[in-house]
Parts: sequence; structure tokens; C-alpha cells
Amino acid sequence: MEYEGAFSGNRLEDFTLATRLVTELWEPELPLASNLANVSALLKQCLGRANWVGFYLMNGQGSQLVLGPFQGLPACTRILVGKGVCGTAAATRKTQLVPDVHEFPGHISCDGASLSEMVVPIIRRDSVLGVLDIDSPEKARFDTVDQEWLERVVQELVKLWPVAWPGW
Ligand code: SME
Repeated sequence: MEYEGAFSGNRLEDFTLATRLVTELWEPELPLASNLANVSALLKQCLGRANWVGFYLMNGQGSQLVLGPFQGLPACTRILVGKGVCGTAAATRKTQLVPDVHEFPGHISCDGASLSEMVVPIIRRDSVLGVLDIDSPEKARFDTVDQEWLERVVQELVKLWPVAWPGW
């Protein structure tokens, strides 16, 4: 499949296609990092107007999120659970939809261009596996339609995630 030009700009069509591609592209025999790298690229291409799309993965102790596969500028490598938008999503186990990052207390800035952000926690049974983090250089880039879709994508990822986890 040729991915360039795969997305039409019709959000619901694009979301449906991207959800299917997430599953189709996933190769269970590959390291998790390989698969998440492709998911980052696919989501960034599908969403548009996003400058950073990627994953932070929970460490073995459940205390820190560690930088995983992403698309965008180099980013901070460790985020304590409870800190920043990512750590808040992990601690509360709730998606953080942030229309203006400058209004979010404790927001951690990795790319100064980012103005809005969404972070979806990745939860399997009782464990937080990590978070999906998406930044945009536009204020209020993401809405609840994006949120519902990305939460469904994350549910698909949980089904694909290696059973033996943690363990990069
Ligand atoms: N803004 C995030 C940090 C990660 S970067 O956006 C890639 C936060 O506040 O947790």
C-alpha cells in the first residue's frame, strides 16, 4: 500500500482508514518499538496539523514515563507520573484534552511551537502501559471527536500489545 496521499481530509473517512491500517501494519513478531514507530507516523499523517505524535512507555516500577517511538523534535526522555500533561494522564488514567498548553499547570514544553495537546493513557486491565501524546502548533486543534477516535485507536493498540510487558 502507498501511504502518501492515503488520507483525503474527510475526518471520519480518514479515521476509519487509519484505524484499519494500525491493525494491518502491526507485525506481532517485531519489537514493540517497530510497531509503535509506524503507528506514530500513521497517526501524524492522518491527523495533520500535529508537530509531535508519539509514545511514552511506563517503566517497570510504574513511576516514570520513558520516551518511546515518536515523530517530531527530540523530546524529554523521562516524565514522572503526575507531572506534565503526560504524567497527569497516566496518574488520573483519563485523557487530557488541552486546548492551550500555556494554561495547563506544569505543562512540560518539548517543542516551543506546541500550543495544544492531547494525551491518551494506554491501560490494560489495571496497568498503565504508557501514553499516546499528540501536540499541535494550533491552539484548540483537537476536539472530542478526535479524542473519541484516538481512545478507540488506543483500545486497538492494547489488544495488539505484547502480553509480556513490561519488557522493551
Ligand atoms: N508536553 C508534555 C511533554 C511531552 S512533549 O509534548 C513531547 C507534557 O507536558 O507532559
